[in-house]
Amino acid sequence: MSSPSVTGDRGALRRCWHPVSFSNALADRPVPADLLGEQLVLWRDGDGRAHAHSDLCIHRGTALSLGWVDGDHLVCPYHGWRYATTGRCVAIPQLADPTRVPEKARIPGYRAIERYGLVWVALDEPRWELAEAPELESPGWKVVAAGPYAWQSDSSRQVENFTDFGHFPWVHPGLLGDPERPVVPDHSVRTEDHVLHYEVVRPEAPSTDDFPVFANEERAAPERRSRYELHLPYTIVLRLGWGGDEGMVYFFASQPVDHERCIGYVLIARNYNLEQPDSVLQDFEDVIFNQDQRIVESQRPEIVPFDLADELHLRFDAVAVAYRRAMRAQGLANTP
Ligand code: FES
Ligand SMILES: [Fe+2]
Repeated sequence: MSSPSVTGDRGALRRCWHPVSFSNALADRPVPADLLGEQLVLWRDGDGRAHAHSDLCIHRGTALSLGWVDGDHLVCPYHGWRYATTGRCVAIPQLADPTRVPEKARIPGYRAIERYGLVWVALDEPRWELAEAPELESPGWKVVAAGPYAWQSDSSRQVENFTDFGHFPWVHPGLLGDPERPVVPDHSVRTEDHVLHYEVVRPEAPSTDDFPVFANEERAAPERRSRYELHLPYTIVLRLGWGGDEGMVYFFASQPVDHERCIGYVLIARNYNLEQPDSVLQDFEDVIFNQDQRIVESQRPEIVPFDLADELHLRFDAVAVAYRRAMRAQGLANTP
């Protein structure tokens, strides 16, 4: 297929929060993170607050992520220039008076917050708040993190795959879908502002002995109710139930590294199986995401074509169609 006529709008995407790291992957050393083609350095100050700056020392363009943190300062590894949390350089050791730093010596900084065990960055003033998922912060619910899943695709493809109903029996037979029951149940999508709402009750595979992760053991041909919120551009909150009190919440967010690379983060909250080791769910997600990865990385173009005329959509692709429409309506995808 030729390149799509409508693609992601980088300027609009800069005005959204995006995950850039699991919180626990950011300790006392700076780490690099790429977002929408920008190279960032993430680091924590002396109080543990996370910061995001351009990963480019103003002096000679060295990656600050190779440096270190000293108290509230980020130190460049090449000549030891020190940057404050504001991005201002506050000491240049080569000067006779190291405190006489020129005004121009500073690096761009970006908004960074932490929530749900993730570090989030917005490159420009964000239009929307983060998606709400109170279960992830509630007593009685246990959260397991899976990933990160780095793929050679645009975030839009990773998000679309996460919410694609038709592929479950084909790509994940016996784990997420039942090949004997491949019909996608009827569903409709309600779009409110930048959030798509939809739900399905669909057949699934019974929990297996290898991966006893879903609360459906007692049921012969289990069905799960899945309530989705797709928060544009790349966050999904999925609430699962099997008709009882057991609940599971999947929080999925994809980091748009650039047009051909993304990183998915998964947080799973549940109010049952609280004693089960985290590795059971993590191993399960690793298998699922591996099965999806080779399919999605083969898709061309690497980014979802936001013009409906570029692909063939059928009735059961209602979510994919609504996603394309909403991304365009919100200015997140445009004709380049
Ligand atoms: S390149 Fe960073 S201090 Fe010289
Ligand atoms: Fe999948």
